[in-house]
Amino acid sequence: MSRMKLNAAKSALKNIPKTGPIGLGSGSTVAIFAKELGQLVSDGKNDISVVPSSYQAYQLAIEHGIPLTNLDINPELIITVDGADEVDKNLNLTKGGGGALFQEKVVASASKRLIIIVDESKLVDKLASRFLIPIEVFPFSLSVVQRKIRTMGIEPFVRQAEKKIGPVVTDNGNFIIDLKFSKPIDDPRKVATDLKMIPGVVETGLFIDMTDEVHVGLKDGVRVLKK
Ligand code: A5P
Repeated sequence: MSRMKLNAAKSALKNIPKTGPIGLGSGSTVAIFAKELGQLVSDGKNDISVVPSSYQAYQLAIEHGIPLTNLDINPELIITVDGADEVDKNLNLTKGGGGALFQEKVVASASKRLIIIVDESKLVDKLASRFLIPIEVFPFSLSVVQRKIRTMGIEPFVRQAEKKIGPVVTDNGNFIIDLKFSKPIDDPRKVATDLKMIPGVVETGLFIDMTDEVHVGLKDGVRVLKK
């Protein structure tokens, strides 16, 4: 599995500009990418700076000696590289398996290009085939949001922390609700819009029409899916 992730990461690395601000996503595949990127920077082959999309990404940048910037200094980014939990045939995504989705979406939206790095197991025909859809919810509104979600025929599960009692608290101080749909989603854009209309929903893990390329790591190479 990590061989496939490495192949995807190395392929994405070829698209990184020599200089300028880029977005750094989150997750285990991005962690592999960040190590490779750090190597380029320390070899003096590259003088990019990154906007991290989570505390994890921030720490990865520091660990690998990658210069940091932020969206106030660089509100437009050349490219972002991020992972995904599911990728459908239109390159729409489910993200947020690691609890980072809100900042990831802001960073992706600030980027001229979004490259997603995954292994083959993430490819699905329709979203919500294998993975629950996460939404980030303002704590004050938790029960109201859960009630509305149930009336939409969707089962909500408040994500529980491991190694801490109680719910997962995101990098933004919010909760995550994982949504179980009765079947895979036919119209992810409509679902994303309907969910976002619920007061208290900060953001959804559905990334619609944002992806430019998906680099799918294979055992012995990479397959690039383009829009
Ligand atoms: C973090 O919350 C996510 O959006 C990740 O980008 C996604 O879960 C993919 O992570 P892995 O690369 O670890 O599978």
